[in-house]
Amino acid sequence: MKIANISNILGLALTGALLFGCKADGDNQGLEYAPQMYHSVAYEPLTQITEESEGAWLSTREDGKGEFYNSNIYNPHNMNMREPVANTVPRNQQGYLPYRLKAFELEKAGETVMNPVALNDEVLKEGKVLYEQYCNACHGSKGEGDGLAGQVIGGVANLTGGAYVDLPEGHIYHVITKGKGRMGAHGSQITPENRWKIVHYVKQEIQGGQGAQGTVAAAEVTEVETPAN
Ligand code: HEC
Repeated sequence: MKIANISNILGLALTGALLFGCKADGDNQGLEYAPQMYHSVAYEPLTQITEESEGAWLSTREDGKGEFYNSNIYNPHNMNMREPVANTVPRNQQGYLPYRLKAFELEKAGETVMNPVALNDEVLKEGKVLYEQYCNACHGSKGEGDGLAGQVIGGVANLTGGAYVDLPEGHIYHVITKGKGRMGAHGSQITPENRWKIVHYVKQEIQGGQGAQGTVAAAEVTEVETPAN
């Protein structure tokens, strides 16, 4: 009987605490049961806590400020991260600029986008593995458009025949990135560098080096880069 009473009281207290915690409105998030989970002690790049006493009740800091105070006095924009300089353009680790061509600009891609990855045996070996992972199912191991999925889908390009053999590398890169007709875009699945390795493999091995262009130093490549999709 006694145990039942105690658990009743505990239950009531818990319900009370839960209801109290629900009293959230506007900027008040209600009672926080585990504040460390909501507030990062580390600097948040896009926000900063300017209230010096924020989290003071559990603070272990030696400077006497609240646990969550994390303002960066050197940035006037209420963020810890600095804003990039106007007109700054992001580059990825390989130095590539963003790929800005739209899906319909296939022809332009063929004319202007050059392969920045130097051609060598290692690249061809990696290109083969990537081709087998991403293209085999439709285009088949020899590129003849007879992969198992390709046979079901139908209308898969035979990369070894006709005008396909002369496709510029930028064209193939663009098709992989943005897709074309019945072929879906692979830009979100394959990194730009790996797409270029596949292009090398298609040109050199599937198409026997026909219509292949020279590669350019990565630093010169201004058109190529991470697709925005
Ligand atoms: C789901 C099946 C599928 C996969 C996977 C696939 N393709 Fe395709 N691909 C197609 C089809 C279908 C076409 C014909 C597109 C059209 O013109 O309608 C095509 C066309 C092409 C073309 C010719 C483009 C043109 O201008 O006509 C190239 C080049 C190509 N694919 C390369 C690749 C490469 C490289 C990969 C691997 C990264 C790949 N494809 C993966 C189905 C696929």
